[in-house]
Amino acid sequence: MLSRRHWLKSFGLSALLGSTLSGFAEPTVAPLNSLNPDDPDFWKKVRDQFSLDRDKVFFNPGTVGAMPKVVVDKMTEHLKYIASGVADWAYKDDNKEEYISGYNNLMSIRKKVGQLINADALEIAMTDNVTNGMSYIANGITLQPGDEILTTDQEHGGGQSSWKLKEKRFGAVFKTVAIGKPITNTAEVYDKILKAITPKTKVLMLSHMISGSGAILPVKELCAEAKKRGIFTVLDGAQTIGQIKVDVKDIGCDAYVGCFHKWMGAPAGTGFMFVKNEYLKNLWTSVSSYRWDDHADEGFRFTQRGTGNFPILKGLNAALDFHFELGPDRVYDRIKFLGNRLRTGLRALPKVKVFSPPEESMCAGITVYNIDGWTGTKLQDNYWEKAKMRPRSQGDVYGVRHCTHIFNSEEEIDKAISLVKEWSK
Ligand SMILES: Cc1ncc(COP(=O)(O)O)c(C=O)c1O
Repeated sequence: MLSRRHWLKSFGLSALLGSTLSGFAEPTVAPLNSLNPDDPDFWKKVRDQFSLDRDKVFFNPGTVGAMPKVVVDKMTEHLKYIASGVADWAYKDDNKEEYISGYNNLMSIRKKVGQLINADALEIAMTDNVTNGMSYIANGITLQPGDEILTTDQEHGGGQSSWKLKEKRFGAVFKTVAIGKPITNTAEVYDKILKAITPKTKVLMLSHMISGSGAILPVKELCAEAKKRGIFTVLDGAQTIGQIKVDVKDIGCDAYVGCFHKWMGAPAGTGFMFVKNEYLKNLWTSVSSYRWDDHADEGFRFTQRGTGNFPILKGLNAALDFHFELGPDRVYDRIKFLGNRLRTGLRALPKVKVFSPPEESMCAGITVYNIDGWTGTKLQDNYWEKAKMRPRSQGDVYGVRHCTHIFNSEEEIDKAISLVKEWSK
């Protein structure tokens, strides 16, 4: 059996062994590695790693996630360290670079991100969020008037707007294809997108997972078709990182942007962009500093973007470690297990319409649904007023987006289903 000291160390909590950082309740959990993942207590003990209030239920990591305690502790620790010790900083001393981000290459974090998405760290740049990453790509790529950018009709503003700007400013053509909500099935959405490609299509930009329905698009197959036609492919992974497995080599996309502040439990303001070297080396920087034209480390050209916030990167680092320690596949399976439990319960209710795809292989932890005749605000507010549960409204038609994560329990899902059952009678 592993010792408590070993367990804490494995969770990156070793610094706390001898310290009493305020606000940190020491976990009363058994060693993680000694638990059987099928044991219901395993997830209860994982839940103990989060500070989330016990009298409320959080179902909205699709907007901004919940940080494990260790993430908050690592950030706070570093914030205090730089507040008190900034005079120690010799500035030129490379060993003391961790006061400001935005000038250093952040290689250790980029390597962890590379491990997460199966990419070379040199092809990864750290960004603040998805919107920045997508904007760097759209602004940095050269398109001619008439060149087409193809995407779906269900993209988030942070993913599509930089391409609309490209249309207005440079005369490229921004085209969307209606994919339906709910999406009928994988084959149909694949056909719809494929048929919308024309000889003028130069960019295919797609959400890997549609935020307004949770649908996982057949990106691997579509990227393969785009590649045959010489089309640059870029995926918006705002909703996938930390929720489902992402392997950019397997997908075969040319670029992928993501963030860690939703499903990965990292602090807000943490993201990345991956671009294959053959494209990255020719991509213009939008925000430029000393390294803007130094191609020795392409990812660094984009990572270097002026003074930033190092403590949040400490938090990100801890969030990545937490994810790897728990085991990515275990996390993804749990998220999907809970999502599936929710969808199964809701689909049995006659007056409930589910807008997530009927094909379970296209779903994971996001479920979008409404009760006949209700608005999203009504459903969201009822959840809060009656049960202190927090899914998020999706507007008048689509009801709520209800996300399930590792800090949720089967009981919480079952309670949500029984509430909807009662309300929809
Ligand atoms: C699909 C999608 N793209 C982009 C974004 C914007 O992400 P960020 O706020 O990290 O820029 C979101 C946010 O919800 C999203 O769901």
